[in-house]
Amino acid sequence: MSQDPALHDLVLAVLTDGWSRWGMPTEDLPVILDAALAEPDNATVAAQRVAPYLVAREGVFGKAYAEARASKFDEFAALVRPSVQPGLVCDMGAGDTQLVARIAATCEPGSRFVATDIMGEPTADGDVSFVVQPAPDRLPLADGSAANVIATGMLHHMSPEVRAALLADVRRSLHPEGTLVMLEDTYPAEPWAARSPADARFQDLDDRGRWGFLAVTDWWGNRVMKNLPEVPLPCTFLDLAQWRPVLAEAGLRIRSVDYLGVVDCGGHMATPRALIVAERGG
Ligand SMILES: C[S@@+](CC[C@H](N)C(=O)[O-])C[C@H]1O[C@@H](n2cnc3c(N)ncnc32)[C@H](O)[C@@H]1O
Repeated sequence: MSQDPALHDLVLAVLTDGWSRWGMPTEDLPVILDAALAEPDNATVAAQRVAPYLVAREGVFGKAYAEARASKFDEFAALVRPSVQPGLVCDMGAGDTQLVARIAATCEPGSRFVATDIMGEPTADGDVSFVVQPAPDRLPLADGSAANVIATGMLHHMSPEVRAALLADVRRSLHPEGTLVMLEDTYPAEPWAARSPADARFQDLDDRGRWGFLAVTDWWGNRVMKNLPEVPLPCTFLDLAQWRPVLAEAGLRIRSVDYLGVVDCGGHMATPRALIVAERGG
């Protein structure tokens, strides 16, 4: 990243914007970023060494992060909800039940909501549950049972082979009118009308810089903010043109694509995202 000043500056700009919104001190961010980048696998400790106030998870930092995460799921729920149908709704790679709980709160009684992940503790609360997947490429759902499978920011956390097998399992799990609703970190393959100044700066990066921006964002969230060394970060991002054949190969046909631009969604950092809805083909 040090060899791409435009990438470095954009990362710093979106971090500064996010931390400003949280009311966090931003003057240390350049030093924090450099320290974390120098020790990418030990990034939280490296960041805390130069900014000891980050240790206070229960203090302003932890509170700001928890609030940002909650607000991210408010925005994700608003984006995903129009595509959700009654029935069994599965949020795969969910981390927790925050998104499905928000969607459940706006649905008629009678639907069921399950959040899954490769790690975590099973929970059940009324119609909302959390279930650990039997395998990274296997959902805990019966054949043809799901009205929707939701995937937010999770399909770049696995190898292309696991992703292909997991998407095939999504198709197995969906009922004939069921859909996959993806909110994924991606961007158009062709030049696009920028949605915001940050989106224009992202578009100005070369291909390597765009991938680098997505990768740094992913790493910052999981290694620096959440300190989750066990979350896989292969950073297998795809642009929107690359998604089409990957979904088609799994038997999923794209119904709609809505590129949202570089949006913060209340989170710690703004990333380019698209809402993709795909249905069972054939
Ligand atoms: C960046 S987090 C996204 C969590 C949540 N969907 C969100 O939008 O905040 C990526 C999640 O994908 C999960 N994950 C990685 N590989 C997976 C797989 N093969 N199947 C299900 N979840 C997976 C990770 O454990 C992690 O919780």
